[in-house]
Amino acid sequence: MILRYPATAADYQKLARRKLPRFLADYLDGGAGEELTLSANNKGWQAIPLRQRVMIDVDRVDTSTTLAGQPSDMPVALAPLGLAGMMATRGEVQAMRAATAHNLPFTLSTVGICSLAEVNQATPSACWFQLYMLRDREFVKALLEQAWQDGCKTLIFTVDLPLPGPRHRDTRNGLNSAGARSLALKAQQLITRPGWLWHVAKNGKPLTFGNLSNALPAATDLDAFKHWIDTQFDASATWRDIEWLRHLWPGALILKGILDADDARAAVNAGADGLVVSNHGGRQLDGVAATALKLPEIVAAVGHQTTVLVDGGIRSGIDVFRALALGAEGVMVGRPWAWALAAGGQAALTHMLASWQQELKLAMSLTGVTRIADIGPEHLDFIEPQTV
Ligand code: FNR
Repeated sequence: MILRYPATAADYQKLARRKLPRFLADYLDGGAGEELTLSANNKGWQAIPLRQRVMIDVDRVDTSTTLAGQPSDMPVALAPLGLAGMMATRGEVQAMRAATAHNLPFTLSTVGICSLAEVNQATPSACWFQLYMLRDREFVKALLEQAWQDGCKTLIFTVDLPLPGPRHRDTRNGLNSAGARSLALKAQQLITRPGWLWHVAKNGKPLTFGNLSNALPAATDLDAFKHWIDTQFDASATWRDIEWLRHLWPGALILKGILDADDARAAVNAGADGLVVSNHGGRQLDGVAATALKLPEIVAAVGHQTTVLVDGGIRSGIDVFRALALGAEGVMVGRPWAWALAAGGQAALTHMLASWQQELKLAMSLTGVTRIADIGPEHLDFIEPQTV
């Protein structure tokens, strides 16, 4: 059955799986290990009931807010996704345009396909830039200078990837191995997806990482990419490096990958302006708790001092509402934006974001709240996050 009118994130996921070669769809969908955390993330939000209230004047419901000081139409930012540019022609440019159409921040990954300059030229606004700590600190400095010059005001600094988690789907698809057999497997998957090949051919370049062109030459396979990550990602980084970063970066500094209240306090002490409660979408340590479960204690620890965002398993405007009710100021959304992009490019993503805004508006209307700032735990029914 062809889904002509996708309605939910799951619909876009189905469409994406039909368009992308399997190794790429699996790279996007997969998590670490047995994918326990991946599935706990989704269920975590779904298990939180909303408290319906009626006969309250909700004629004017306003979903707009500010995220890291930036006005947005709703409290949603697009999370950084490495290789997302491969989901469609100049993928990150299309995503930036869709995000800007809704006045939402788009975050470009360190390992994005398009460069900062290309993404920032796509619209009048600038993206958020995500960075990992790399061993080559001069290179880190150069990237930060580049981002600042290109107009980025917010740095998302990811702290939960000292080394990559084991993604078994990638292993099974030969993504973690070089050689003829893995190439043959990928080629077999590619010939079943001529439409995607055409998109990528239109990119006009082999696999290039826009911001890393000096450090990571264009690759024909993902092996060079994987090798670069293994050698460059700095597992020795500590809070001192965050202080170093704080001095270097003049804009907002948001640490992504905090899952513990003590770490949240340390982030604030190191000078962060905000944090993202995240387990990397279940792609790092399988077995850690769902973000919905951890959010309340982190909000209790630092919510009065700093901006708290959350991601992982947010799949609708109603999930956005749930996250806000548990104390987040906003959410980041990962896989769903790439699903929409793969399914139908910028237009599909714009459409998905519009329906999320509608869902958020409905959730606000039927819980009796008209402003984002007024959403709180009183709008949830029976909150016992421990049971999530
Ligand atoms: C990611 N994530 C990620 N995070 C980051 O800081 N830099 C990156 O380059 C990437 N790359 C990446 C690729 C893919 C394919 C996925 C699925 C995820 C993590 C991402 O930013 C975010 O934390 C999660 O995706 C949120 O979970 P959901 O919304 O995908 O469930």
